[in-house]
Amino acid sequence: MVLHGKPVWESRTLPVFIFSLYLYITLNMQQIEPFKSTSPEETFNFAKKFAQSIEYGSVILLIGDLGSGKTTFSKGFSKGLGFDDVISSPTYPILNEYSFNDHYLYHFDLYRLKSISEFLEIGGLEYLSNKQAIALIEWPELIKSIDISNKINIKFEYVSENERLISLQ
Ligand SMILES: Nc1ncnc2c1ncn2[C@@H]1O[C@H](COP(=O)(O)OP(=O)(O)O)[C@@H](O)[C@H]1O
Ligand SMILES: [Mg+2]
Repeated sequence: MVLHGKPVWESRTLPVFIFSLYLYITLNMQQIEPFKSTSPEETFNFAKKFAQSIEYGSVILLIGDLGSGKTTFSKGFSKGLGFDDVISSPTYPILNEYSFNDHYLYHFDLYRLKSISEFLEIGGLEYLSNKQAIALIEWPELIKSIDISNKINIKFEYVSENERLISLQ
């Protein structure tokens, strides 16, 4: 297109391109800032507060290496929901179950799970679909092929002896 002898399209191409690039970059960076914890207590308290914003029916995948804070987080989370944070009698070696007023918290630790069928055999799918429950799952990698609705991923990263990065994804 030519207006008053000036090629309008060509003169807009560069600004439009730059603006699109800017939008693309900012939209992709709009991830929630990770939380930096500097002690186990801070991780516990972060989880305790976080738990109060989570709806029953949610499944929370806790992703991170050994010692990155997943269990510490789970204990704070349990406390935040009002469940006893002392793990006394596990339902199965991979599951601790808490119940209170018809509401449940299932804390799975799948570190020793050998195959997905082991998870299915103990009724894993039923646990995950209980709308009166929240499930926390440490080491969820083996069951990643299961299509879970209402899933929240939380990533734990070791930074230094007392520092961990916790990011919601
Ligand atoms: N900021 C922190 N948050 C959580 N744990 C921490 C932190 N700093 C040090 N730690 C230590 O790291 C270890 C975390 O263990 P745990 O929560 O069992 O991890 P995971 O379940 O991921 O293997 C504990 O020994 C805890 O005392
Ligand atoms: Mg653990």
